[in-house]
Amino acid sequence: MANIKTKICGITFPNPIWTAAGPASADAELLNQAAAGGAGALVTKTISVQPARVPIPNIHSVASGTLMNAELWSEMDYMKFIYDELPKIKDKSKKIIVSVGYTPEDLIVLGKELRKANVADAVEFSIHYIDKNPENLKRTAAALKDNLDIPVFAKISPSIQDLDVVIRVLDPHVDGFVAINSVGPALDFDIETGRPFLGSDDGRGWLSGGAILPIGLHVVAKISELTTKPVIGVGGVRKVEDVIKYIMAGASAVQICSLAILKGQQVYGGLADQLSDWMDAHNYETIESLKNTFNRSIARKLFFLKQGPQLYPTLIDERCTYCLKCERSCIHQAIKFYEHEFTLDTSRCVSCGLCASVCPTDALMLESSGD
Ligand SMILES: Cc1cc2nc3c(=O)[nH]c(=O)nc-3n(C[C@H](O)[C@H](O)[C@H](O)COP(=O)(O)O)c2cc1C
Repeated sequence: MANIKTKICGITFPNPIWTAAGPASADAELLNQAAAGGAGALVTKTISVQPARVPIPNIHSVASGTLMNAELWSEMDYMKFIYDELPKIKDKSKKIIVSVGYTPEDLIVLGKELRKANVADAVEFSIHYIDKNPENLKRTAAALKDNLDIPVFAKISPSIQDLDVVIRVLDPHVDGFVAINSVGPALDFDIETGRPFLGSDDGRGWLSGGAILPIGLHVVAKISELTTKPVIGVGGVRKVEDVIKYIMAGASAVQICSLAILKGQQVYGGLADQLSDWMDAHNYETIESLKNTFNRSIARKLFFLKQGPQLYPTLIDERCTYCLKCERSCIHQAIKFYEHEFTLDTSRCVSCGLCASVCPTDALMLESSGD
């Protein structure tokens, strides 16, 4: 059976599926539920020196599996969180990663208190609401590193344009990275009343869940190219295949937020079991052997193929259910079904690949014309 333990900064975790900072990790009761639900580590809701004043409403379902939120950070006093909540976590075998924010001044206070309380196995700090200039980021990381002797992870926001610069600046001052935080700002409102769905000052919030998976994968793959330090993936996981993608992109563990909000706290253990089964079926014995197997060179080859030979869809008859999703989604009208007969007009096909990706049964393969 596959070994799904993961080792990060010398700490061994029983599985790589963790909670993320959010409403499902907001207090001891919820963290105990996540532990019982099989989470491989407990990452807490972000605490800060000033409790947040959270607007209401603050979570809105934008589309299936995709949320928008304006939940900010914990409303709880940080001393209560550290001294009353964290000790109530029953399963002492679960490692606790406390999420903290935001300014260097805040982090000095929180770092000192966490060291005194000795309740955390690691910390992650969020750069979501701070000035992201390199000097400030360096000061922010140092504020924790100078006051703690446990691993410190930087949680990266997807809005960062100069990721290379930010990772290079932070790298010497942290023990690893977490990516990504929610995406935005984003807006949605009711067309009858004109009112935003979220109660924040400007109605804006942050996107999470299924829609942001490809952004998270991009950032994790990119950070993994820029550093040898561990990367923890988060963003858009809805099924085990998404977890596998994060690990293949370079992640040593994966956090889950929106899925746990929508489906409940048992999702962690369920995904861990499915990951183990998938690894068995595909002959991966360890997380380390699956990690970083995303094929960067093939991605480049497909790009060059577009200059010469084309990639045409071919049909695997026995898989086709004749749902016609491929025909309808072909804006170039290259695909036509005549009485269950698949035809492709190669003079119209531009090899975009959309038809194969909308097929619900994987009945279309993209094959090179080879000329
Ligand atoms: C309602 C809500 C509250 C969140 N609160 C925090 C937070 O306090 N600190 C933080 O770093 N990230 C916070 N996040 C971001 C998540 O930890 C995570 O990075 C993001 O939602 C992407 O993961 P997901 O697609 O699995 O939800 C929050 C997300 C949601 C949906």
